[in-house]
Amino acid sequence: MRENIKPATGHLGVLVVGVGGAVATTMITGVLAARKGLAKAIGSITQMATMRMQDGEEKPIKDIVPLADLKDIIFGGWDIFPDNAYEAAMYAEVLKEKDLNLVKDELQAIKPMTAAFDHNFAKRLSGTHIKNAATRWDMVEQLREDIRNFKAANHCDRIVVLWAASTEIYVPLCEEHKSLAALEKAMKENNTEVISPSMCYAYAAIAEGAPFIMGAPNLCVDTPAMWEFSQKMNVPIAGKDFKSGQTLMKTVLAPMFKTRMLGVSGWFSTNILGNRDGEVLDQPENFKTKEVSKLSVIDNIFEPEKFPDLYGDVYHKVRINYYPPRKDNKEAWDNIDIFGWMNYPMQIKVNFLCRDSILAAPIALDLVLFSDLAQRANMCGIQTWLSFFCKSPMHDFEHQPVHDLFTQWRMVKQTIREMVGEEAPSYLD
Ligand SMILES: NC(=O)c1ccc[n+]([C@@H]2O[C@H](COP(=O)([O-])OP(=O)(O)OC[C@H]3O[C@@H](n4cnc5c(N)ncnc54)[C@H](O)[C@@H]3O)[C@@H](O)[C@H]2O)c1
Repeated sequence: MRENIKPATGHLGVLVVGVGGAVATTMITGVLAARKGLAKAIGSITQMATMRMQDGEEKPIKDIVPLADLKDIIFGGWDIFPDNAYEAAMYAEVLKEKDLNLVKDELQAIKPMTAAFDHNFAKRLSGTHIKNAATRWDMVEQLREDIRNFKAANHCDRIVVLWAASTEIYVPLCEEHKSLAALEKAMKENNTEVISPSMCYAYAAIAEGAPFIMGAPNLCVDTPAMWEFSQKMNVPIAGKDFKSGQTLMKTVLAPMFKTRMLGVSGWFSTNILGNRDGEVLDQPENFKTKEVSKLSVIDNIFEPEKFPDLYGDVYHKVRINYYPPRKDNKEAWDNIDIFGWMNYPMQIKVNFLCRDSILAAPIALDLVLFSDLAQRANMCGIQTWLSFFCKSPMHDFEHQPVHDLFTQWRMVKQTIREMVGEEAPSYLD
């Protein structure tokens, strides 16, 4: 064991931005139920996955590295609506009432703090439970105070902040994001064009020494200013955009075509979704943020510059359609036009009838627990090993992101091995 990994003693406060949302309430309910022995943490790597060690023995990951115990987590967070987590989960309609009732009292006790919100960043939302902040810097100050108060009131040893709130409008990288000094200046000057509320949450978390995770595709911590700040404060940052359904399929299928040296001429992905996330993404400026996140995957895996005959001309299109009757039960279609020997064309159709938040909840939990582990292992800045969980993995200007799910999984295992001073056991791993 790395001598410098601190043990996971005491309480871990998990502050969720968007604590009344579908993903947040589904994750929280599952954790509360699992720790009472009323549910299994299905889909969670930290709770269920195993790894083969150097001596050939296969062990659960949670027995290899010191992860926080689910029993030690205390949930809190912010939302633009005042509903407690039970009411919010009822509204989200992801989980059935009978499942929510298993932990009703605990859910009712989770009441959101007022949100740092700007309607211009999510025009489809009109919240009532929001902070009155004169400037973006003031927003940061208020959020920092929230974090400190929550930590003290709940006797938490550590805090992790997770963004599971709505996708903000697309904010392109600009000068104000390129250094910490420029970012702070823009916050103090209240430059509301380039400083989003999510950046205020991230800044506040990092300033309070809490790892920050971006679960939406927002630019937020994907800037040199935030990389600099997280290094300076010795805090891990991770993201972005939970890799839950359609992109998960893409990052499994695309490496298969590439490994078999099969060509691809087109990939059309569309889906219908009727939850609040779908409603926000129905706004073109918000969809743009998601589109950028979803489009980056294929080129990165195919490397068209290396294989122009196979992937030099892939027509890639991504659509999301807000369709209220489906609520959280997204239906996704992919049509993939591939070609093989002698250029003969073939087609693959994928029809995934998924449940968005059921897929995203364990990812959110794993990101929280691994970020807390990284913090205790003294790993700061961008956590590239957590790319496995993200649709649009964070990376600096010198490195390319890794999208292939199996390469990402090796990165998770390799990092865990390094933490405990082990080598990979064999080529069969
Ligand atoms: N569900 C998935 O599979 C999935 C996958 C990838 C990414 N995401 C992203 O995760 C996020 C959450 O998804 P969801 O389905 O839970 O959405 P949701 O609309 O149910 O929940 C979002 C919550 O955030 C709150 N909110 C919005 N702005 C806020 C702010 N500034 N401060 C505090 N709270 C705020 C909303 O009131 C809402 O309760 C979205 O950005 C979505 O794009 C979801």
